[in-house]
Amino acid sequence: MPTVRDVLKTMDYGPAPEADTHVRDWIASHADGFRHFIGGEFVPSAADGATFEVGEPGRGTPLARVAQGGAADIDAAVQAARAAYPGWSATPGHVRARYLYAIARHVQKRERFLSVLEAIDNGKTIRETRDIDVPLVARHFYHHAGWAELLETEFPGYQPVGVCGQIIPWNFPLLMLAWKIAPALAAGNTVVLKPAEFTPLTALAFAGICREIGLPRGVVNVVCGDGATGAALVEHSGVDKIAFTGSTEVGRIIRKATAGTGKKLSLELGGKSPFIVFEDADIDGAVEGVVDAIWFNQGQVCCAGSRVLVQEGISERFLQKLRRRMDTLRVGDPLDKSSDMGAIVAPEQLERIRTLVGKGVEEGGTLWQSACALPAGGTYFPPSIFVDVSPASSVSEVEIFGPVAATMTFRTPEEAVQLANNTRYGLAASIWSENIDLALETAARVKAGVVWINSTNIFDAAAGFGGYRESGFGREGGREGLYEYLVPGWEKALGDVGQLATPAFDTAFGDPVEAPGVVAIDRTAKLYVGGKQARPDSGYSYAVKGPSGTIGLAGLGNRKDVRNAVEAAAKAGSWGGLAGHNRAQVLYFIAENLEARKDEFVGRLRSIGQTAERALAETETAIRRTFFYAAWADKFDGRVHATRSRHLTVALQEPFGVMGVLCPDEAPLLGLVSMVMPCIAMGNRVVAVPSQLHPLAATDFYQVLDTSDVPGGVVNIVTGPREELARTLADHDDVAALWYHGPREGAAAVEKASAGNLKPVWACRDVNWLSDGEGQGADYLRRATQVKTIWVPYGE
Ligand code: NAI
Repeated sequence: MPTVRDVLKTMDYGPAPEADTHVRDWIASHADGFRHFIGGEFVPSAADGATFEVGEPGRGTPLARVAQGGAADIDAAVQAARAAYPGWSATPGHVRARYLYAIARHVQKRERFLSVLEAIDNGKTIRETRDIDVPLVARHFYHHAGWAELLETEFPGYQPVGVCGQIIPWNFPLLMLAWKIAPALAAGNTVVLKPAEFTPLTALAFAGICREIGLPRGVVNVVCGDGATGAALVEHSGVDKIAFTGSTEVGRIIRKATAGTGKKLSLELGGKSPFIVFEDADIDGAVEGVVDAIWFNQGQVCCAGSRVLVQEGISERFLQKLRRRMDTLRVGDPLDKSSDMGAIVAPEQLERIRTLVGKGVEEGGTLWQSACALPAGGTYFPPSIFVDVSPASSVSEVEIFGPVAATMTFRTPEEAVQLANNTRYGLAASIWSENIDLALETAARVKAGVVWINSTNIFDAAAGFGGYRESGFGREGGREGLYEYLVPGWEKALGDVGQLATPAFDTAFGDPVEAPGVVAIDRTAKLYVGGKQARPDSGYSYAVKGPSGTIGLAGLGNRKDVRNAVEAAAKAGSWGGLAGHNRAQVLYFIAENLEARKDEFVGRLRSIGQTAERALAETETAIRRTFFYAAWADKFDGRVHATRSRHLTVALQEPFGVMGVLCPDEAPLLGLVSMVMPCIAMGNRVVAVPSQLHPLAATDFYQVLDTSDVPGGVVNIVTGPREELARTLADHDDVAALWYHGPREGAAAVEKASAGNLKPVWACRDVNWLSDGEGQGADYLRRATQVKTIWVPYGE
């Protein structure tokens, strides 16, 4: 036994283990295997009670056996959730709130148990599970109990989606469960949750809480298993929505698997987030920031600050301090209260980290690792950083998902932004500077869903979390997160009704053109690209028919035209930087010019067989709708969320950038206006493909754009084979979001093609464009924007 004098000499930490007897007794009481939770009961797997082994990362030993779910178990769980849905969705918000509140209370009552269980099952430290994971879980259920209460008044006209399939990863097992289940239940949905195969135990403990509080049977179901179990859930026809958190690779598989099914989808995927340190930063604060950014949870964090970008003037000093700090970190038993870092979740994951680090060394990176001792047994990896790596090296590009950061230097703020955005991901960013102008300017320019200024890895139930680009789409948390579990009452599920536009084009000489009214100087409508009329690359036009023959010719656009249009749209980026008021002026001008040419548009719509009354209604509604979005252009603003005290948490509605818009046949003018105006009002640039059958109203429309001060490239119009052009747009990496109006088959094709850069696709059909309830509204603006949450802690 060391004396006090000895201890004072070495200042060594003594062991400070958290008691684990209750948890280990609980695990031992399930020696015959943990079971699924279906319809309010714990049940074995349908396939002869099949089980799989779960390990204990801190010790490197087996921990428990857990039921392996197959298609039959998923089916039983979906049936249970379906059966519970009518009752739960009809339960008054106040009553649902009471259940959620009871869950929160019970999580709090079992805080110690859940913290210890999570540390044992995952390998993360008790300090983190006790101080971060579990308190945030309780906070999530309290917060969403509030939303259940307020749903009717705050989200009028919205309905729950139905049965939600939720697939979660192993890095924050209970917290990810809370992020998924709390909003789903608050909004009136029922749930089938599949926890990760490495870490299912806290989800099963949570199922026990659901039983304990008397949550109606079937509202929450938990089916354990691996990727195949997850895939069975994704593919089940009784599921209305999939919410997934995990790797980008699996996110892509799920995007393709759900294509055309009409299932609502949210994806929270990987990241390679920049941690930017400017030379005027508080260096000691930023060093502590790196500790929280990349060594928190052993770096197994989707928003980990894994690319540390340091301004050249301070880089040497900064890295020296960081290296010194790294050596003081303690990697140890997850249950020891003085461990800074615990164990990697599983041997496979440890191997993956080792391989990627080995590759980084092979590629010439200099690896620094903490001198700290690693415990014997268990899956441990030391805190590590690479210095002198190039932006193209694999450690700078690939998500390592371990305690390994790559550092790089930059000279100017411009270069910092370029490096920060030099990634296919866009989940988070952390910016360190004492100059608030520089910090906010950088926050505005970084492409990421969450930005922390002089801070990192802060989460709260009231703030949205989610990515840009290949980090996925949809938000979790706060008001914005609830929309993922709601649908507007008017929105219909994608159905088999409706036909794809026919690919046959009449490009031959043929019928004389029937222009009603006047005879015409022939005007072959061209494409509209970059603010100019453009001949189609194919060199062909096609005949546009009215009820009694050909009424005109339109350009037969192809892939090349789409690419040119996207390029023109990409160049018109300054549109998004204009003040909403300036964009509003342009939209008002469009409305005015539409009004001035009203008779012409009515004539055009009549030429395709519309009645005088209908043609007038369509044109007048198009004019009014343009005014409507002009009105909104400077009003669809963000929020300041009430999160933690002394933290400004700002949710901005940012445009996506370039959007593709596939317009309907039924209202050739109004459909186009209804889809394009909200997108450009929010600062996006658009490549629109008008109705294939009736493109001429759209090509007349670009003359209106020409006379309305719309900058070139903000709206581009490509006529031709709609479905083919749609797929090119869906496939294009510079198109950031897509709206597709049409039948299931077409939606399936674009959703599948969108998996490349994981752009969000809004597929809808049969909108009654003449109705203000369906054809316009703030929901369109919401879908034309993505939320960026900027955290600014303040105070000395
Ligand atoms: P993963 O994406 O394979 O697993 C996440 C969840 O999806 C698990 O519940 C898994 O069973 C399920 N799943 C796997 N394949 C599926 C499929 N085809 N259909 C439906 N569900 C499926 O992630 P994994 O293998 O655990 O980790 C691999 C890498 O993914 C990590 O090294 C890391 O880079 C990344 N990752 C990112 C996470 C994030 O939060 N962004 C979380 C976990 C992993």
